[in-house]
Amino acid sequence: MLTLGIESSCDETGIALYDSEQGLLADVLYSQVSLHAEYGGVVPELASRDHLRKTIPLIRECLQQADKSLADIDGIAVTEGPGLIGALLVGTSIAHGLARALKVPLLAVHHMEGHLLAPMLEDNPPAFPFVALLVSGGHSMLIEVRGIGEYTLLGETLDDAAGEAFDKTAKLLGLSYPGGPALAKLATKGDPERYRFPRPMTDRPGLDMSFSGLKTHTRTLWQKERTGTSDDETIKADIAAGFQQAVAQTLMIKCRRALEQTQCKRLIIAGGVGANQELRATLLAEADKKGWEVYWPRLAFCTDNGAMIAYAGSLRLQAGETSTGGIRGRPRWPLDELKAP
Ligand code: KG4
Ligand code: ZN
Repeated sequence: MLTLGIESSCDETGIALYDSEQGLLADVLYSQVSLHAEYGGVVPELASRDHLRKTIPLIRECLQQADKSLADIDGIAVTEGPGLIGALLVGTSIAHGLARALKVPLLAVHHMEGHLLAPMLEDNPPAFPFVALLVSGGHSMLIEVRGIGEYTLLGETLDDAAGEAFDKTAKLLGLSYPGGPALAKLATKGDPERYRFPRPMTDRPGLDMSFSGLKTHTRTLWQKERTGTSDDETIKADIAAGFQQAVAQTLMIKCRRALEQTQCKRLIIAGGVGANQELRATLLAEADKKGWEVYWPRLAFCTDNGAMIAYAGSLRLQAGETSTGGIRGRPRWPLDELKAP
């Protein structure tokens, strides 16, 4: 069964073809990063218009890469939410039109389900059950995953998402958009031990997280320490390294608790912040000590992509699930509303 996946929830248009027998056949992505860079963040209206320009040409390109035609498609999976409503509506409208024209089933995919199943696109995929740490620009969640659609939310951020904290902190340090990768790059030159950063919400029990205090701490520190001389570059790198280490260690402590609480030995990391090398190293070091197995998707599948949507959709379509009635866009969509197919 050949599934076309369409992702347009934020600032990336992702299209992929996943075959239930042969796996991922093609995957193309268009990132709007340069479009939004001069505004320092995603401009929703510009995002929608760009998805509209790119989606159909990318579908053509993806089919060409896989040496397939529209007639070969057996089902269409599209991100219905959560995300920017205008951006989502571009993907869902195109998916809807194509599914009708081709007379194939259409399936609405939850963007975060796509992220949390993305490690299964790799060789040596994790077996169920596992704990998933989903850390992206819009979400920070710990989820117990017992099977497809069997998700229990263990904890989430009470304010900023981890990626949002990276982006906002990068911005206040004067780094370019998107902030997460820019801050991570600067941090490689810094000394994480020079300044003390809090590990928010780790001194009390529970799996919820909070990152906005860390961002405020960084702002105050930078205002206090900056000198207006060339020393500022070193100070900035040291602050970036300290901030990144604090986020990584806070997330590691929460993961450790989640694995202890669920008595699970498998951890998967997904979402854009999963691309962060310091986070990976911190979790791997702890996994070594505790005997956990840790799984990541390849870097390109940590951030938004069409492959994870095609894959998650394919699993549900194969199980006979379809989204009858109109697929809307859903800016908000709690993950634990999902059911097993
Ligand atoms: O999953 P994603 O591509 O989009 C959302 O669904 O939000 O995640 C994007 C987020 C952004 O906040 C970005 O700054 C962050 O992931 N990010 C990183 C890194 N790469 C992307 N944060 C820290 N270190 C990175 N290397
Ligand atoms: Zn995402």
